[in-house]
Amino acid sequence: MSQSPSLQAVGLHKRYGDVTALDDFSLDCAPGSIHGLLGPNGAGKSTAVRALTTLIDVDSGTARVAGYAVRTESRRVRERIGLVGQGTAVDDILGGTQNLVMFGRLFGLSKTQAVSRAGELMAAFDLIEAADRPVSGYSGGMRRRLDICASLILSPAVLFLDEPTTGLDPRGRNEVWRTIRRIAADGTTVLLTTQYLDEADQLADSISVMKAGHVVRTGTPVELKKQLGSDRIVVTVSDAADLPRVTASVHSHSTPEIDSAARTVTIEAPSGTAALLATVRALDEAGIEPEDLVLRRPTLDEVFLALTSQEATS
Ligand SMILES: Nc1ncnc2c1ncn2[C@@H]1O[C@H](COP(=O)(O)OP(=O)(O)OP(=O)(O)O)[C@@H](O)[C@H]1O
Ligand SMILES: [Mg+2]
Repeated sequence: MSQSPSLQAVGLHKRYGDVTALDDFSLDCAPGSIHGLLGPNGAGKSTAVRALTTLIDVDSGTARVAGYAVRTESRRVRERIGLVGQGTAVDDILGGTQNLVMFGRLFGLSKTQAVSRAGELMAAFDLIEAADRPVSGYSGGMRRRLDICASLILSPAVLFLDEPTTGLDPRGRNEVWRTIRRIAADGTTVLLTTQYLDEADQLADSISVMKAGHVVRTGTPVELKKQLGSDRIVVTVSDAADLPRVTASVHSHSTPEIDSAARTVTIEAPSGTAALLATVRALDEAGIEPEDLVLRRPTLDEVFLALTSQEATS
């Protein structure tokens, strides 16, 4: 297997008049991985996708996708990528299979090849039952899966998904998540933009957080959360008078934080679950029965807010 990234962007710049949409944008995605591009509205996510899929030309910088240069070998890049934009691409009146056959023909397959590929995709993505029904009767999740199938007709090496689950209910999102995981498991590199942090957390092997056209941080979901601080243990007692006894009994590297109104003591827990066990034992030995005891990890939402707030720099 090749070690070179399936997708690499170095120093992309793109301006629209006075607006800088991409400002020294760089990205690396390992083959077969799911990479999440996260950022607030207007951060430049869709512009990055359009640049990497050859739909717009950038002002400067270089990018390679599936082994080819985006600016000088755009035809070869296009042959190797799939793109699912925000709007739905499939036709409402046609059936699912008919849609895929139509796309296959558009992509240059013969009638026989198009029919055969449509059948394969409908079967692989659990759409067989609905194969002949007009798409107008599909659920949001099914329609989105059909959109994704249409982008898979030529077995792309890299698949771009711009906000693939926006507007779907939880069931539809789950169906689409399963689809995306399968595609990556089959070896396709996936770049997805999302405004849902839990989606990136669930799906992405690595995440780039974007702000004002620039990637401000890249890492695995776990790494990003770790950078923000360690786990914490929150002990809640039923009687605030017990709080000093709690702080006296537990072991902590830093001073425990007491919140009398909430009846909680918060303890830093760099060792996570080991610290949780030690706390349970210490409380038990001191004869304290907490009302609640939780190990709280920093959430991706906290990471996102910390990295993309107005004050955040770098
Ligand atoms: N064709 C265009 N003409 C002028 N300005 C544009 C154009 N496309 C994007 N922009 C501007 O570039 C910036 C980045 O836009 P982009 O659509 O890439 O952001 P985004 O991260 O995808 O946002 P969203 O989460 O709202 O989809 C925005 O300020 C936007 O207004
Ligand atoms: Mg967008």
